Amino acid sequence: MTPTGADAAHASMAVADAAERRWAIIVMLIVVMLLAMMVFTGLHWTSMPPSRVETIDPRKLHISGEFVEDNLGTTLGADGKVMVRLIAQQYSFEPQCLVVPAGMPVTFRATSTDAIHGFVVDKTNANVMLIPGFIATFTTRFDKAGERLMPCHEYCGTGHEAMWGRVQVLPAEEFLAKARSGERMSCVPR
Ligand code: CUA
Repeated sequence: MTPTGADAAHASMAVADAAERRWAIIVMLIVVMLLAMMVFTGLHWTSMPPSRVETIDPRKLHISGEFVEDNLGTTLGADGKVMVRLIAQQYSFEPQCLVVPAGMPVTFRATSTDAIHGFVVDKTNANVMLIPGFIATFTTRFDKAGERLMPCHEYCGTGHEAMWGRVQVLPAEEFLAKARSGERMSCVPR
């Protein structure tokens, strides 16, 4: 016998309740999974959220200040710290090839002269956006010596896919032997 009247209404309410509860649980599971992914990528890949805002006038980069051409590249400071300065512009990085030591902290300072570019070094957590008017700063460490690719990974115009550079990771001793305090290094032939 099929239920009628109040019975039927009651049965369909129970069905609706069960469906709502089921979907509430599924949505909660999705939220928990997304949070877990954020925690996992944050900790495991050591993602670095932007920690500061430093601005610069992109129209005057080439003329004066720390991003003039002969100040770009890698330096070993008197304090033993390794600093890399570079700029991105349509459609190349300057310098095209960076020299860095393996196993030592390396600080990058970079910016863009024109559009938004992406800076990423493959197989590492070095990954920032280069935005005109802002200086991106981060410190990272390269585990293994060898050559890495450094493609632009933000679409920046018609030449985007041809915009990439190289990073030469040298064993620390070799790097230190080459670097003299204060001298700028790059692997671009000059
Ligand atoms: Cu620069 Cu894409």
